[in-house]
Amino acid sequence: MGTGLNVWRVAADLIPAELIIRKRNGGSLAPSEWAAFFSAYARGEVAEYQVAALLMAIYFQGLSEDETRALTEVMIDSGERWSWDPGSPVGDKHSTGGVGDKVSLVLAPLAAACGVRVPMVSGRGLGHTAGTLDKMESIPNYRTALNKHDFDRLLREVGYGMGGQTGSFAPLDRELYALRDVTGTIESVPLITASIMSKKIAEGPDGLVLDVKWGNGAFMHTREEAEHLARNMIGTGRAFGVKTEAVLTDMESPLGRTVGHALELREAIAMLRGETTEERFSDVVVALTASLLVLTGVAGDESAARQRIAAALDGGDALERFRANVAAQEGDPRVVDDPSLLPGADRTRTLQAPRTAYLRELPARAVGLALIELGGGRRTKGETVDPRVGFEFPRSIGEQVERGEPWAIIHAAKESDADAAQATLESIVYWSDAPVNVAPVVTTRLTAD
Ligand code: URA
Repeated sequence: MGTGLNVWRVAADLIPAELIIRKRNGGSLAPSEWAAFFSAYARGEVAEYQVAALLMAIYFQGLSEDETRALTEVMIDSGERWSWDPGSPVGDKHSTGGVGDKVSLVLAPLAAACGVRVPMVSGRGLGHTAGTLDKMESIPNYRTALNKHDFDRLLREVGYGMGGQTGSFAPLDRELYALRDVTGTIESVPLITASIMSKKIAEGPDGLVLDVKWGNGAFMHTREEAEHLARNMIGTGRAFGVKTEAVLTDMESPLGRTVGHALELREAIAMLRGETTEERFSDVVVALTASLLVLTGVAGDESAARQRIAAALDGGDALERFRANVAAQEGDPRVVDDPSLLPGADRTRTLQAPRTAYLRELPARAVGLALIELGGGRRTKGETVDPRVGFEFPRSIGEQVERGEPWAIIHAAKESDADAAQATLESIVYWSDAPVNVAPVVTTRLTAD
């Protein structure tokens, strides 16, 4: 690689409309043309409406592998690219986003306890999905505004850190994402690939594992779409020398027993403490962590990785990493032993099963939107989220629930919010008198080969 933006500043004869037309007609642009177009944009010589037109052309025509790589490179070169002191391997995980997805909260300390350094740079909630940073910030005073120097210290002292996107990684992506958001060009596989992979590659990992979700609560609605996106991202990661794998996981229903920031944090801490964990949630955590351990060479194979993971959980090492991280990021580490120190809602309302039946469907997307209604998500950028509110689901999809037994507990700030959430949950849940066949949550593991 190494064709930095600056190299292409010379494209004095660039005619933006010619490149847009070529892409619109299904042609390809050379790496130098991608770089020239966006460096001219950075200098104010290509207008925002021309970028918007190019994005729409990409949306309809797609990008070849080479073009995706070139666009990713232009985005990476628009900001910093980190590197790390020699030592144990550096790895990270990215999820395309889902409801109840608190996997990172367990995976980062667990992977660190197994010998992978994890500089996890995460996002905030997007649409109906909540973000890792907001969940960690449920811990009083936990600081997520970290710079490279902070990450160096955290990786040295704790093994992992959790910070937010700053302007330093792929600032061009930030601008393009904002434009895509208002021009109907978000749902494009090459644009999503370049957007996610530019930020992850800029972190400088040796290995990267992707949780590509599919289902009504995911960006990709079908397994086939998820696989297509995953293969694009794997190819792009490998092209930049980052060992990349993907695990496809089901996001038809929320992951685990909780949805909502502080509630999800409690569930993650409970798994780290070795308490009984909802099976689908622990399946996803273990599959992704095992993949990361194998990719980074910390474990020789999947079975060795799983043994190491079990030892780090059972022996309490992963929990101690979590505790050390909370203290090092200035949060209150007492939450580890006393989760009641986390913010809690004023009201809870328990919903009981109307009849003895199997819990068949609980659509993830509708649950994510119901969390926003409760105040636990953002309707507009910059809004604060209420970490106290959310839902507990004591039963998993496919389980039989006796009439009158609790199947959901609403945590709300106000009685009227609880009323509205109750009406929503009761209208979206689907019961079945016959047993339900539940497919495994981890559907496929994709490697580069
Ligand atoms: N998340 C990102 O960072 N970029 C996308 O394009 C989609 C999801």
